[in-house]
Amino acid sequence: MSLFKKKNYAADRPVPTHIAIVMDGNGRWAKKRGLPRTAGHKVGAEAFRTIANYAKSIGLKYLSVYTFSTENWKRSEEEVNAIMELLERYLRELIRDMDKNRVRFCFFGDLSRLSPQLQEEARIAAEESKKYAGVQVNFCLNYGGRAEIVRAAKQFARDCADGKCSPDDLTEERFSDFMYSAGVPDPELVIRPGGELRTSNFLLWQSAYAEYYFTDVLWPDFGPKELEKAIAAYNGRNRRFGGVK
Ligand code: IPE
Ligand code: IPE
Ligand code: MG
Repeated sequence: MSLFKKKNYAADRPVPTHIAIVMDGNGRWAKKRGLPRTAGHKVGAEAFRTIANYAKSIGLKYLSVYTFSTENWKRSEEEVNAIMELLERYLRELIRDMDKNRVRFCFFGDLSRLSPQLQEEARIAAEESKKYAGVQVNFCLNYGGRAEIVRAAKQFARDCADGKCSPDDLTEERFSDFMYSAGVPDPELVIRPGGELRTSNFLLWQSAYAEYYFTDVLWPDFGPKELEKAIAAYNGRNRRFGGVK
């Protein structure tokens, strides 16, 4: 954890190194206004833009966002297509504005099921933003925590079969290197707006000791003030990691 004193940050509060967010509640936000669910996703994308900029301004190093889960394919074709189109547009803009925003982008998840265009945009965004050192945004896209663990197990098993390592070599640290998040410190804080009290398969391995913050605020309404509240709550927690303090 590092201390940051930024003009636009309310207090000299420590900011976690890595915050992960389940961006939930877009559909309900739209329904409340008599709008189609897609309208909620659009406003949700803007909420992300604002939070990403704010996160950068307070010195956060890693921001992981649950963008589309392995389970979200169960939704109507219409909704899935609308989300994918929105993502394509979003990534196009993100690539266009990259030099201005200077954010490093990573993608966690099985991108092979996405459209060739989306895959190409994700590749370009990740490749061309490698040079930026400030904040790293991890888009969890067609991501599932269990799928990620199974994928890691398969890769390790394959390396063993190839004679590169033996099952006895496996440690928690080494297994972490097989995750999409290899090299990224675990999130200290996982935020879930939208009122649901569950992980929905998000960063299961990485969140073993994360602090969770739940709020009824719907994602499209989640702004910098809400993020500050979550960080303040986090700072009030007593993190013992199984020990005694
Ligand atoms: C989260 O909002 C966005 C995605 C899962 C893509 P939802 O679409 O789940 O919104 P609610 O939970 O139905 O309100
Ligand atoms: C989790 O939200 C996935 C994303 C925010 C991308 P869901 O809306 O899919 O989760 P459930 O259905 O409430 O578990
Ligand atoms: Mg939801």
